[in-house]
Amino acid sequence: MSAAARSTLRSLALVLGLAVAASAVAGLGYGRVAAEHTLVVLAPLGVVTILLASWLGRRRALLGGLRRQFTVAAVVAVGAWLAGTALFALRMFVSDHDAFFTALLAVYAGVLGWWAGALLASGVLDDVRRVRDGLRAVGEGDRDVAFATSARDEIADLAASAQAMEERLAAEERTRRELVAAVSHDLRTPVTNLRLLAEAVEDGVIPEERRREYLSQLGVHVRRLGALIDDLFELSRLEAGDIRWTAERVDVEGLVAEAVEAMRPQADAGAIAVRAELPADLGAAHADPEQLQRVLYNLLQNAVRHTPADGSVVVRAARTPGAVEIEVADTGPGIPAGERERVFEPFTRGDASRSSDGAGLGLAIARAIVEAHGGRIWLAEAAAGTRVRFSVPAA
Ligand SMILES: Nc1ncnc2c1ncn2[C@@H]1O[C@H](COP(=O)(O)OP(=O)(O)O)[C@@H](O)[C@H]1O
Ligand SMILES: [Mg+2]
Repeated sequence: MSAAARSTLRSLALVLGLAVAASAVAGLGYGRVAAEHTLVVLAPLGVVTILLASWLGRRRALLGGLRRQFTVAAVVAVGAWLAGTALFALRMFVSDHDAFFTALLAVYAGVLGWWAGALLASGVLDDVRRVRDGLRAVGEGDRDVAFATSARDEIADLAASAQAMEERLAAEERTRRELVAAVSHDLRTPVTNLRLLAEAVEDGVIPEERRREYLSQLGVHVRRLGALIDDLFELSRLEAGDIRWTAERVDVEGLVAEAVEAMRPQADAGAIAVRAELPADLGAAHADPEQLQRVLYNLLQNAVRHTPADGSVVVRAARTPGAVEIEVADTGPGIPAGERERVFEPFTRGDASRSSDGAGLGLAIARAIVEAHGGRIWLAEAAAGTRVRFSVPAA
């Protein structure tokens, strides 16, 4: 049985119960005969009205706009009232005088009911129109639409949802614009350098040893560009959810040891001590090992890059219920309070890192990977230095 049919049956049972209750009250006041008359009038009237209303409810499309639908509801109510009055008059030998004035009152009250309904409906219609016009404007690109309605009802809920949608759209568009601006800016500098170098080499007027130097600079810029494009590609794939996962048991201890060893030459060059301090009972994570390695590597690279000579970088990990938390801590200058909120956004670079190699994508990629695993990444409180911590599900 369909949901609509079930709801009609429920209404029918309810209206019959109501008719029985009303006839019981009539019986208490005026005896058994009055009770019978009441039941015979009210029960069929209730059934017919409910069936008619359910039928109309399923065919709202036939009724047209909301105003018409409200009018039909009022007409059904008045019709039920009039029919009821007429049936009572016929069955219970009400005097013509009483019947006339009862019918008159019924018609008058019915008209008032219809009127009140129409007035109420016009407020509803205004709100519906306001939401509709607002949505149209948003659809045409307007992002300053205020969705305000006059009541606290379902239409207000609709307006609030529309408002939230508009704000999310505006934020997404802002992010996209900023991203495009940042990408073009980051591409322009190396490309300009490349063009100048290429022109100088082409000119052929420079001495041989300068030529060699220029060519090696060309190589540096090309590699940097390539790395930027790889990172951008990776980030866009991660954000689109377009990645093939091979989540498996990952031995965190081994993974951390590998990443630390991979960083050692760079750390040694900067006289920075890098080490792992892991508990014996750490257990395994459930993750894609390559991706997890990439997160660790990005964090370690940042830490080593920002730590001055004689400083240290330490990887720590802990088992929490259902997850493994890994932290990379360094003794560098730390991340200023004003930047802490934004460091995980693409192209965010601290003032001190403006001129460095990075494009500001490392932490954004790390966050995308961690979140794709169902974990999270954040900056832990640190008295000195930086502590970036993330969680991944335990195996
Ligand atoms: N360990 C750290 N110590 C200090 N600042 C950091 C550290 N890690 C990240 N940051 C800041 O966060 C910014 C964003 O980092 P990231 O996304 O890896 O980009 P990139 O390394 O390319 O600059 C960095 O430019 C830097 O300002
Ligand atoms: Mg980085």
